[in-house]
Amino acid sequence: MKETVLKKFEELYGDADGAGVYFAPGRVNMIGEHTDYNGGHVFPCALTIGTYAAVKKRADRKLRFYSMNFDKMGVVESSLDDLTLSDKAGWTNYPKGVMWAFEKRGMKMDCGLDVVLNGNIPNGSGLSSSASLEVLTGFYLRDLFGFEVTNVELALIGQYSENNFNGMNCGIMDQFASAMGKKDNAIFLDTADLSYQYAPLVLDGAKIIVTNSNVKHSLVNSGYNTRRKESEQALADLQKVIKIETLGDLTEEEFEANKSAISDAVCAKRAKHAVYENRRTIRAVEALKNNNLKEFGELMNASHVSLRDDYEVSCEEIDVLVEEAWKVDGVIGSRITGGGFGGCTVNIVKDEAVETFKEKVGAAYKERVGKNADFYVVEIGDGPCKL
Ligand code: GLA
Repeated sequence: MKETVLKKFEELYGDADGAGVYFAPGRVNMIGEHTDYNGGHVFPCALTIGTYAAVKKRADRKLRFYSMNFDKMGVVESSLDDLTLSDKAGWTNYPKGVMWAFEKRGMKMDCGLDVVLNGNIPNGSGLSSSASLEVLTGFYLRDLFGFEVTNVELALIGQYSENNFNGMNCGIMDQFASAMGKKDNAIFLDTADLSYQYAPLVLDGAKIIVTNSNVKHSLVNSGYNTRRKESEQALADLQKVIKIETLGDLTEEEFEANKSAISDAVCAKRAKHAVYENRRTIRAVEALKNNNLKEFGELMNASHVSLRDDYEVSCEEIDVLVEEAWKVDGVIGSRITGGGFGGCTVNIVKDEAVETFKEKVGAAYKERVGKNADFYVVEIGDGPCKL
């Protein structure tokens, strides 16, 4: 990949001498979905796939971006004096947003950049190609301009830019997983205070398989922001009767005892998911520590049902993938992963069942949905790096 981006760099901009090559990973979330903006826990891990960039400083204030994934757009030009959102800037709104967010924190770039990108995360698959791009941008800016920020701050800057520049009100999970990833470990993160622990996720005799429905999700235009508002509405109602900061503060029992305070039935369902999913996540990590993979899988399955019925962020295609996965012997757990409305499922499958899983789920998907699904046996990797 290093050679590929450098070669392209040379082809487009001339001299690649002195260009640095950087990488930031995508992520898959094992459990704890739509809990990160509700003060709950999440359990994602960074992947070995992600986004690469070759970057070099320029003598002027120009910015030139090129992505090998969006080659039809060609080189997209901008300037440090024009860090604003625009439709025609397409994917470059992400790096521009991060540069804008650094400026907001008083960290100003003193020259422009030439950038070539190449990613191996399928776009719109729910494996955080955008968060990896944000973390990647922050990571190379820190390296090139000596900005003093920690990796956790890189995650926060990425989230800030996505919320305030790109208009997607995401939580912190994706950027945190990308910036703080650790090989063979998932991150048990409490989004209420950003405290976290690494938990080894080397599965004895099983693999993590991500299945892509090839239904692209578009979160800004989808119900993501609406879900967030509905959760906030439920919280506001609950706060009239119980002293809590977030939905993540509640146990299932406390929720059940107070849920009648939520005036809207839909908001009540959203809150139920947020509360129960947070508790499931805590339990799942406990189960993993006790080597109880069976319980971990059951909690993943329950997470899917809750996301499908209460949070309503699944879709027909994803439900088919999960239902078919549940039918296969040797599948320990299966659920939708990421923001939803399409994208991928995450599955834990026993080694000996991997091939049957791909065949059976792939064939059933084709038959019931008329589309091909893609399967990736994923590996858990480290956070961002300079290559
Ligand atoms: C998207 C967001 C995350 C998180 C998930 C759902 O990936 O970017 O912050 O809310 O959806 O768990």
